Amino acid sequence: MKYFLDSAKLDEIEIAYEQYGFDGVTTNPKHIMNSGKSFNRAIRDIAVYVSDKPEFPVSVEINPHLQTADEMIQMAEEVSSFSNNFVIKIPTNKQGIIAARQLELRGIKTNMTLVFSAAQSIMPGKIGAKYVSPFVGWKEDFGDEGLASVKQVVDIYKMYHFDTEIIVAAVRTAKQIQEAALMGADIVTCGLSVFEASFENPYTDFGLKTFQDAWDNTKTEQVI
Ligand code: E4P
Repeated sequence: MKYFLDSAKLDEIEIAYEQYGFDGVTTNPKHIMNSGKSFNRAIRDIAVYVSDKPEFPVSVEINPHLQTADEMIQMAEEVSSFSNNFVIKIPTNKQGIIAARQLELRGIKTNMTLVFSAAQSIMPGKIGAKYVSPFVGWKEDFGDEGLASVKQVVDIYKMYHFDTEIIVAAVRTAKQIQEAALMGADIVTCGLSVFEASFENPYTDFGLKTFQDAWDNTKTEQVI
């Protein structure tokens, strides 16, 4: 399973790539806003950082106000010209499906985002989107099921041999990461703090303390 970092902050992207060997990045308008930069500045800075990292894809979302497939295609073409690493995030709705199909035919990779059901995930697979992003956290935050429909997406994609990679998105907890891995999702995208918390465990801390005490109380060899 691959890890993508869900952030547009350059310092976090550097940590994810340099320290942890992440496989890519996903951004969205919230992440761009939180970077404190303009859209153009944020994506230019990321484009420069990844310019010598050809195997490090970065998903960039188009203006969410765009209504028609033509408008989406136009902005996707502009954004993709910034970097060969850029994959264009397109909303999974009627105009988005039409736009993403055209973009894939033109060689521009797409990440079909804001997927909340297995039914919604079928067209992204059929049109050959590079990625599909079912969101888990936005549903589970409100007590709705999220992971069960991701499992359905994984099963459907296996059954029909879709090449589109499944990014489990809006991940908030270690449990969601674990379940995504168990069901065979291709990628989990999450923030750095969620990722780092997933390999912390109080039992590990307890065990370390136990072993430190043992180490400190081990008989030392007498040197005559
Ligand atoms: C990923 O592609 C999505 O943009 C992201 O996971 C959304 O989740 P968030 O609400 O945690 O930003």
